[in-house]
Amino acid sequence: MKWSQFFNTSIGKKLLVGATGLFLCSFVIVHLAGNLALLKEDEGEAFNIYAAFMSHNGLIQFIAWGLKVVILIHAILAFQLTFRNRAARPVKYAINPGNQTSSWFSRQMAIMGSILLIFVIIHLKDFWYWMHYGDLRPVTYNGEEYNNLYLVVQEAFTQLWMVILYVIGMIGLSFHLIHGFKSAFQTFGLNHVKYNGLINFVGVWLFGILIPIGFAIIPVVIYFKSI
Ligand code: HEM
Repeated sequence: MKWSQFFNTSIGKKLLVGATGLFLCSFVIVHLAGNLALLKEDEGEAFNIYAAFMSHNGLIQFIAWGLKVVILIHAILAFQLTFRNRAARPVKYAINPGNQTSSWFSRQMAIMGSILLIFVIIHLKDFWYWMHYGDLRPVTYNGEEYNNLYLVVQEAFTQLWMVILYVIGMIGLSFHLIHGFKSAFQTFGLNHVKYNGLINFVGVWLFGILIPIGFAIIPVVIYFKSI
């Protein structure tokens, strides 16, 4: 079987969704670590220097474009798998017992993933687009000029609806990753009684709770400081 044929099968698509999902998990850790500089009481110096480094480093820019392709592949294949599964079982079970094999989180994957995708599209338009194509105000640190992306973020989060949007987006992120992280390990057959406890712990506590709260704190703190 050719690779192209393999990735057209359900198992091939599932493997690609798992691999791209784990790559995106590693991205959220790095992204949160960088964004926490927004909470430093330094008028944005650390964040603007970090943002300039990210946008001028060739390797990081290459990975950043790959990231967008990975998000697209992950979303398209996950939608295809969801519709394929539904088509294979067009009539819903008369009683959906919320049974032993499928948790509530696993049944909400498509909905939470969609909320997250809508969030990411709005987010890219608001921040990433501004950073690369917007007319940013310059700011000078140690005689060097930087784009003041910090100011764009601060202004965005003085609006309550933006803060609410981010908190809803992070609830979507939390529910999506609580199931998604451990599901990727299952897809690769890497679940084993010995490690399942650790995989569940990391999935729930790191990706389901700490990281979404870490992201959500940023708009909430900026908003309350601004009023
Ligand atoms: C409070 C939360 C967040 C803030 C303040 C924030 C801020 C930013 C900023 C300023 C940028 C443009 C600069 C850059 O490219 O690094 C950006 C890009 C991006 N953000 Fe966020 N972000 C947040 C949460 C998230 C979350 C939860 C996700 C995904 C689940 C996400 C996905 C992305 C992606 C994919 C990019 C484009 C990255 C690139 O091209 O380098 N962000 N974010």
